[in-house]
Amino acid sequence: MIEVTFITNEGRVATAPENSNLLRVSLREKGGIPFKCGGGLCGTCRCKIEQGRDNLDAVKDKERRHLTDAELENGYRMACQTFIVKGNVSVSWEPRTWVPKKV
Ligand code: FES
Repeated sequence: MIEVTFITNEGRVATAPENSNLLRVSLREKGGIPFKCGGGLCGTCRCKIEQGRDNLDAVKDKERRHLTDAELENGYRMACQTFIVKGNVSVSWEPRTWVPKKV
């Protein structure tokens, strides 16, 4: 089994079998990674792998359409296109529903 830590969701931790799709784990375990299409088209599931990048499968062409080389270097992936092959990962993302507080 692998462990996924959803940093942006208060560090929620989920377990899943090896070779699990990151977005599917998030959906099943209420991890909270934003998404729309689930098919590599919309770019909504953009996230940053904070730990465990070596435990992921290779970057897909669909991801390269949404992420620059620099972002890929820095650990960004599209969750719907990313599989966790072995080991644990920690993931963060920019919350999509952030609203500035009124002062
Ligand atoms: S959910 Fe649309 S690209 Fe991943």
